[in-house]
Amino acid sequence: MSTAPLSSFSPALFSLAGRRALITGSGQGIGLTLARGLAAAGASLVLNDRDPARLAAAVAQMRAEGFTAEGRAFDVAQSTEVEAALAPLENEVGAIDILVNNAGIHRRAPLESMPLELWQEVLDVNLTSAFLVTRTVVPGMIRRGAGKIINLCSLNCEVSRPTIANYAAAKGGLKMLTRAMAVEWARHNIQTNGLGPGYMRTAMTGTLTVDPEFDRFIRARTPAGRWGEPRELVGTAVFLASPAADFVNGQILYVDGGLLAAL
Ligand SMILES: NC(=O)c1ccc[n+]([C@@H]2O[C@H](COP(=O)([O-])OP(=O)(O)OC[C@H]3O[C@@H](n4cnc5c(N)ncnc54)[C@H](O)[C@@H]3O)[C@@H](O)[C@H]2O)c1
Repeated sequence: MSTAPLSSFSPALFSLAGRRALITGSGQGIGLTLARGLAAAGASLVLNDRDPARLAAAVAQMRAEGFTAEGRAFDVAQSTEVEAALAPLENEVGAIDILVNNAGIHRRAPLESMPLELWQEVLDVNLTSAFLVTRTVVPGMIRRGAGKIINLCSLNCEVSRPTIANYAAAKGGLKMLTRAMAVEWARHNIQTNGLGPGYMRTAMTGTLTVDPEFDRFIRARTPAGRWGEPRELVGTAVFLASPAADFVNGQILYVDGGLLAAL
């Protein structure tokens, strides 16, 4: 008779103890909330932002909450800054086991009059940055034969709205970059997945949440009938960063109150 346990569940499946996570754009908003969540699950943190004052405040906040946190200020869209900050990082702080490509921006304009600079900036910060940061961090993961990469996707990986063609093109590209990373590095035991928030209350959506017409639209369009809060993304991020997701690869997990399921 088999003596194998009926269930191999253990809370350790979701533990990040002993892991180190680098989260880009984590000076505020979703990035900072995810950083706090990963730290509460056991990870030590390397925070990043292009705004040094915001970054310093976030690092101080994480330390005040009892977590281990370092900060690196750089612009994720500038390849020379990324290289200068990240190439020496593992020697300075230790292995990066978890990478969260979170930094992102919105720059809205009608497509027919969108300046090239606005198109390019959004593509650079939301898509090219994930390529630049990941290709600098992943060699260490390949050497160790383990790593978790989480790319901050969006409902706009799947659907668009007027005036956000640059953002939708970038996030659509990020979805496929996620799958490309998954298939390319699966053999090194690296899992790459996307976390796709619905409409969340952050600085990025600040002008939208106080626009009564848009607020009504979101509440009507979202089956849950409300905006999401960044903390509601934490469980999914911890799952994707944890041993529980060791065979989950190339997926985009939407946390959207059911929006994408509804017509
Ligand atoms: N808020 C939402 O409803 C929502 C929905 C779907 C996806 N997202 C995605 O989640 C991520 C975080 O969004 P948020 O709402 O927390 O935004 P936010 O504007 O509140 O915070 C973004 C942070 O990233 C930093 N940042 C911006 N550009 C950077 C760069 N080039 N280099 C380094 N840091 C940079 C900013 O300084 C800021 O601290 C983004 O990728 C966004 O596209 C947000």
